[in-house]
Amino acid sequence: MGMAAIESKESKRLPGLTARQFFPILSKGEKAQLHYLDTAASAQKPAAVIDRITAYLSHEHANIHRGAYSLSANATKAYDNSKLRLARFLGADSEREIIFTKGTTESINLVAHSLENYFSRGDNILISLIEHHSNIVPWQMLARRKGLNLSFCNISPSAEFDLDDYKKKVEELKPKLVAMTHVANSFGTLFPVDKIVDVAHKAGALVLVDAAQSVQHCELDCSRIGADFLAFSGHKFYGPTGIGVLYANSKVHHLMEPFQGGGDMISSVAVEGSAWADFPQRMEAGTPPIAEAIALESAVDFVEGFGLKAIADYEHSLFVKAWELLSKEEGVELYGPATRHGAESGCQVSIISFNLKGVHAHDLSTIADNFNVQIRAGHHCAMPALKHLGIASSARASIGLYSDISDFEALIDAIRAARKMFR
Ligand code: ALA
Repeated sequence: MGMAAIESKESKRLPGLTARQFFPILSKGEKAQLHYLDTAASAQKPAAVIDRITAYLSHEHANIHRGAYSLSANATKAYDNSKLRLARFLGADSEREIIFTKGTTESINLVAHSLENYFSRGDNILISLIEHHSNIVPWQMLARRKGLNLSFCNISPSAEFDLDDYKKKVEELKPKLVAMTHVANSFGTLFPVDKIVDVAHKAGALVLVDAAQSVQHCELDCSRIGADFLAFSGHKFYGPTGIGVLYANSKVHHLMEPFQGGGDMISSVAVEGSAWADFPQRMEAGTPPIAEAIALESAVDFVEGFGLKAIADYEHSLFVKAWELLSKEEGVELYGPATRHGAESGCQVSIISFNLKGVHAHDLSTIADNFNVQIRAGHHCAMPALKHLGIASSARASIGLYSDISDFEALIDAIRAARKMFR
């Protein structure tokens, strides 16, 4: 199909190496080749990340911030270096703004808990109808605890963000917090985060951006976006599971109470009471996921080896071809806007949600599995969005930097087989 291959520094050094070949699970022989189209659920892991975690656990492990011996000091250094690397990667002012969590869900829950005293009864929180459950339920729980109002801004029938409705609601409700996704995991809607932050800040609201589906496809710079919080998961970013990131701008640290109590988050503990450590340790009680945090740095190196602009451009050309293939297929109904390339922000949405007429998405996913194609099916943890759009469930194919057109050709074979089967 004549697509230019994506190259990293490493593949330039070793010509002929494709992006897929960096991933052990994707470099099996042709027959066993996976057509993995579920990167939005979790990305596959490059050898660099697997090797780093193995090396750490095999030779370098000790608890951090505790030992007066060199094994512990070195593990502490590696953990802290990873945080520094993440701070630089995200354009944070310092590593004090980077909190390691278990994933996006924990990052958002952390914010919801830490801001409890920032809210007063009757205050408003504004989110959108197309959020992932992890950016809905923590706010519902907080609203219940504190007597707050949670409001939802609209999405259009083609799942696009309704900026006018957002502006209207910000003006009417004067929310104290706006929490929005950057890219919706269900239908791939790209949110204009710069505008969202600008409007919210002018109205005096804090802003949280859920970047779980954008950080691996878009050039993100926290100081440019200007959000107060930004959250993502390591495992969707070619890193391990069990590690996530919360960026919290230092300007809002004074509003945040500790999320959990325990070791490592204190400066002193006495019978009479305790005092907290500085940021970010204050927010990281207990032994953190050390190996996972360290391997996340390798994931950053890996992604930066390709460059996010190159990744977005490559994924854009694949997205356009895949969309075209699917749209020509009899009985396929595609959801969401067809163009989702924020060229100006170096950002590509890599999610295609669709249904095949007469075939339940779960059945399609099972049939696709027989063709070695992995797609997600169901409500995508976005039940309010699906209900709003009148869709019970959908199939979802999502792209990673290792995806290529052969994955979509295999998906088309599966769709044709399903169509025959359900005729
Ligand atoms: N949030 C993940 C997804 O969209 C699990 O599939």
